[in-house]
Amino acid sequence: MRDLKISVVVTPEISGLPNFVAVGRPIPDGIGASDVWNFRGDASEIAPGRLGDREVVFLGAGAISDLDSSAVRSLGASFARRLPKFGNSVLDIRYLADQFDEVSSSLVALFEGILLGNYRYDALRSKASLPENEADFSSVTVVVPSEWLDAASNSANVAKLHASATALARDLINEPAKTMTPTRFADVATEVAETAGLAIRVWDEEDAKRERLGGLLGVAAGSEQPPRMIRLTYRPSGTPLGKVALVGKGITFDSGGLSLKPPGGMEAMKTDMSGAAAVLATMSVLGALDCQFEVNGYMALTENLPSGTATKPGDVLTTRSGKTIEVLNTDAEGRLVLSDALTLAVEDGAEQVVDLATLTGACVVALGGEIAGIFSNDETLVADIVAAGEIAGEPYWQLPLPKRYRKHIDSEIADMKNMGEPGAAGAIAAALLLQEFVGDAKWAHLDIAGPSRSNKDVDIFAKGGTGFGTRTLLAWLTD
Ligand code: BES
Ligand code: MN
Ligand code: ZN
Repeated sequence: MRDLKISVVVTPEISGLPNFVAVGRPIPDGIGASDVWNFRGDASEIAPGRLGDREVVFLGAGAISDLDSSAVRSLGASFARRLPKFGNSVLDIRYLADQFDEVSSSLVALFEGILLGNYRYDALRSKASLPENEADFSSVTVVVPSEWLDAASNSANVAKLHASATALARDLINEPAKTMTPTRFADVATEVAETAGLAIRVWDEEDAKRERLGGLLGVAAGSEQPPRMIRLTYRPSGTPLGKVALVGKGITFDSGGLSLKPPGGMEAMKTDMSGAAAVLATMSVLGALDCQFEVNGYMALTENLPSGTATKPGDVLTTRSGKTIEVLNTDAEGRLVLSDALTLAVEDGAEQVVDLATLTGACVVALGGEIAGIFSNDETLVADIVAAGEIAGEPYWQLPLPKRYRKHIDSEIADMKNMGEPGAAGAIAAALLLQEFVGDAKWAHLDIAGPSRSNKDVDIFAKGGTGFGTRTLLAWLTD
């Protein structure tokens, strides 16, 4: 992420810098936007104008009645997206002040929008292919009502941590699978553990064999890159409010294995470790955000490739729990690696387990690219995660875990099979399989296959990995 410093002030006298003034619709009296621009205050619309003796650029915030934290976050992003043209700039939000329902969460959203709208992944571009004639920019100044000044500087710090965690997830996701291997992911996790003061345990292939991580090893069987299971541990300074496990699917490339995907289906499959990326990203800032829970983060990392040593359709894997899974489709690999990670979480005594996984295309069909599915055995946990998602601007929709569909994963020869009935409730069948491994823990499964990736450069998103889930977990664990 390009570095961007945010300062908060109460007077707009910043000589020489472009002054953006955010206004919503309907436009308040006294706003003199240049007539030819026909400025309405629509979201991300801009127009030059005057405010007293200041020359300003009006920036639309959309309908005042809809100014929730998502709209405010988008406003921040639309401002950030002008910076390559305008350079260091000022954003005056005092006209919106009365409309913010909760000051600090709105300010966090605004600053998140500014920082995330500025994200891009250009580690692999040569200078010549970077956009031309971009202004240098390194800082923005936000003008707030004076009574908000204290809340604003604290909110800026929180937003900075949320955004840098999200950017870490995006960087991990966007890096090609050629280099973002399980080994490299574990190296990054080790660095994060060191910087953030977390305990870490990494299971290499030998450890995985010794400790019977049969689901993970079964998926890794076709790959030359060895798998890794990772556990990061955060302990708060005081008595923990509870013991939480975060579990992430970390397929660094999903070709489908012997049940090979068609070419279009694997184009974006370097992003199949988005769940693990969100878990690592979340863990990286728990301490800085003073989380009061004890949190273990489990990440199951492997490639899913075909070869002469690959798991074959019809093979049966014995997972760490002892339960056996018949692999009928090697492309339904996420649930296999997650089975072992969930078992480890339960063995370690987690009271609440939340897993994140780009698990099923069926969930994308059901909910599209902007909403994640949530499945759970505990309604309070659902309510908490959904509420955290609302704060984060990451929407979830609950789907059921019907006992009557458990038969969909009945196997002829093993305890279960790794797919349901063709064309029927695929996201649910996957979730029902995961449920077999959570014991009595309170558990929620977030199927983030849709929103883990953005196909457009829009709003707070850059085309590619979104880091979806990171800020939900942070809102849940630290707000
Ligand atoms: N990683 C995919 C799911 C996916 C699809 C994520 C599209 C993001 C975008 C997962 O491993 C997978 O291939 N699932 C199969 C399961 C099926 C074979 C039972 C699917 O959804 O088609
Ligand atoms: Mn797959
Ligand atoms: Zn997958």
